[in-house]
Amino acid sequence: MKDNKRIEICEVGPRDGFQSVHDYIPMQTKLSIIEKIIEAGVNSIQLTSFVSPKAIPQMRDAKELAKICLERYPQADFSALVPNLFGANTAAEIGVKKISYVVSLGESHNRANIRRSHAESFKELQKIMDGLPQMDICLDLATAFGCPFEGIKTPEQVVAFLRAYVDVGIETVNLCDTIGVANPAQVRETIAAINATYPGLIQQIHIHDTRNMGMVNTLAAIESGVKTVQTTLGGLGGCPFAPGASGNLATEDLVHMLSAMGYGTGIDEEKIIEAARYESEHVDGLYSGHIFRIDSVTTH
Ligand code: COA
Ligand code: ZN
Repeated sequence: MKDNKRIEICEVGPRDGFQSVHDYIPMQTKLSIIEKIIEAGVNSIQLTSFVSPKAIPQMRDAKELAKICLERYPQADFSALVPNLFGANTAAEIGVKKISYVVSLGESHNRANIRRSHAESFKELQKIMDGLPQMDICLDLATAFGCPFEGIKTPEQVVAFLRAYVDVGIETVNLCDTIGVANPAQVRETIAAINATYPGLIQQIHIHDTRNMGMVNTLAAIESGVKTVQTTLGGLGGCPFAPGASGNLATEDLVHMLSAMGYGTGIDEEKIIEAARYESEHVDGLYSGHIFRIDSVTTH
């Protein structure tokens, strides 16, 4: 497998998927799903988020769940989403080495989601970087392509916003299409504009499938050189603070397409489809995935 044909799929279902589910999912069910994801060969998983349980009650088991997973799967590449220093400190205490620090490009969405202005979010990140110098931090740029309150965002706006973050030493940005409004041309242009201005900055992609554009937008990112992409098992998910948001591109659908195209993900297609089926039978939510609904998958 050539290096340029290797794609790392980061499964964010246990965070982005579960957070959209209204009823509390018993921790044992969450753990069984995580186990199935790992057994299917997924190595990179966003386990949970360390957020206020008042904001997202579903994540109230975050500490306990993360502790169990870190102990059970020491080889796995786990991360957690955090909105503030409090969350980052919790991650560090438990032994989570990688965090996604979430800020929305749309300031109105930033306020709706984490109750901070852009300036406050930036200051908070500096506190995290100062307080936790060993922490691996990815900037999760929510609403990078469009904001539910402010409309479409341009590549120029993304590039301008990133300046301060690159200057303080952020090395990875995850471009999130939180409300699924991006199109492939916009994805290509945004990635190219970032590459042109910040050639060393690693880019990742996280696309919601709200308008059936999850696959084409993710592929546009991959063909623009992005090596790590985020998806959720079954396409479960949505941001509770973005009106009309729905699930992400489904992990198993992407695995299927990439494997048909000769890309390697290290993920077993049958097993990940089985995991999605299991999840859909045990967690009552909105699923945008396709393949897991088919009785027999005709592969290539
Ligand atoms: N984890 C757990 N509890 C937290 C926390 C965290 N990261 N950050 C704050 N809290 C608690 C505080 O201790 C405080 O608790 P108390 O009321 O019992 O004293 C309470 O939450 C309010 O704290 P405050 O700092 O005033 O936060 P806020 O009310 O301004 O809310 C956030 C800000 C960021 C904590 C909250 O909006 C949040 O968690 N948002 C996450 C949203 C999200 O996950 N969206 C989807 C993912 S993109
Ligand atoms: Zn998302």
